Amino acid sequence: MENLLSVRHLSSSYVTRSLGSFGRRIEKPVLHRINLEIAPGEIFGLVGESGCGKTTLGKCVLGLIDYSGEIVIDGLRQGRKADHREMARRVQAVFQDPSASLNPAWKAGWILEEPLRINRMGNGAERRKRVDEVLELVGLDPSYKNRRAHELSVGQKQRICIGCALMLRPRLIIADEAISALDVSVGAQILNLFRELHHNLGLGMLFISHNLNLVYYLCDRIAVMKDGRIVEQGSAEEIYGNPQAPYTKALLEAVPDAPGTGLSAPTKN
Ligand SMILES: Nc1ncnc2c1ncn2[C@@H]1O[C@H](COP(=O)(O)OP(=O)(O)OP(=O)(O)O)[C@@H](O)[C@H]1O
Ligand SMILES: [Mg+2]
Repeated sequence: MENLLSVRHLSSSYVTRSLGSFGRRIEKPVLHRINLEIAPGEIFGLVGESGCGKTTLGKCVLGLIDYSGEIVIDGLRQGRKADHREMARRVQAVFQDPSASLNPAWKAGWILEEPLRINRMGNGAERRKRVDEVLELVGLDPSYKNRRAHELSVGQKQRICIGCALMLRPRLIIADEAISALDVSVGAQILNLFRELHHNLGLGMLFISHNLNLVYYLCDRIAVMKDGRIVEQGSAEEIYGNPQAPYTKALLEAVPDAPGTGLSAPTKN
């Protein structure tokens, strides 16, 4: 079966300029020859300490920054020449801070329609129908489309952000710390929403988090990243039950027994 996401020899650097009038270019390598694969409908977790390059990897997959190597999403190569409309139907993202992602003055229905307007898809009635479908998928009743973003709770805002990501029926969602900013009970609800969406829509997910317990709970497979390299990857059970890399062991040792996720000790079902 063809992979939903295939990342081969991915490297990426940020280029900054040094201070001073001569402004030398400084290249800072962040990702070093990363390989990973996500099967259709799989939830893949990416963990590692702050600054190791998780978000940078997500941005490469979304085609937001330059890289070397190869990224193929559902048979289509990501890159400068990618067909952006086709790419948008394959991969979408949900980020940490829903308030920063939404224009507070816009009504939720108008926000949800935006991906369709940008891609000139459907007429007004078709777009509104899709908004109703997506509101149901994210667990909000249709009346929410008339609420302005500033009238929503943080959890409801994150549901709208997830809804925006779903509008074009993508096959892969990149969730970058999508639960980290939420308090425990709201975070648990959004986590369950991701599980439901995965189950009901067969969505594949790249779930980026620094919370190992959360990733264990949600993900089929996990990659552990350190300083821009993948040090270990395997099934959630392998990584949690029998970690090989010293760095993974150290990460796990640092995890408190009672996870701060609102979930009791990790159990998978
Ligand atoms: N736009 C940028 N310009 C220059 N350097 C950057 C830029 N964005 C990130 N970096 C650097 O690249 C490295 C990786 O950053 P990245 O955001 O990918 O880490 P992360 O693993 O997502 O961290 P966190 O868990 O804190 O979100 C860091 O050292 C960061 O300072
Ligand atoms: Mg990050």
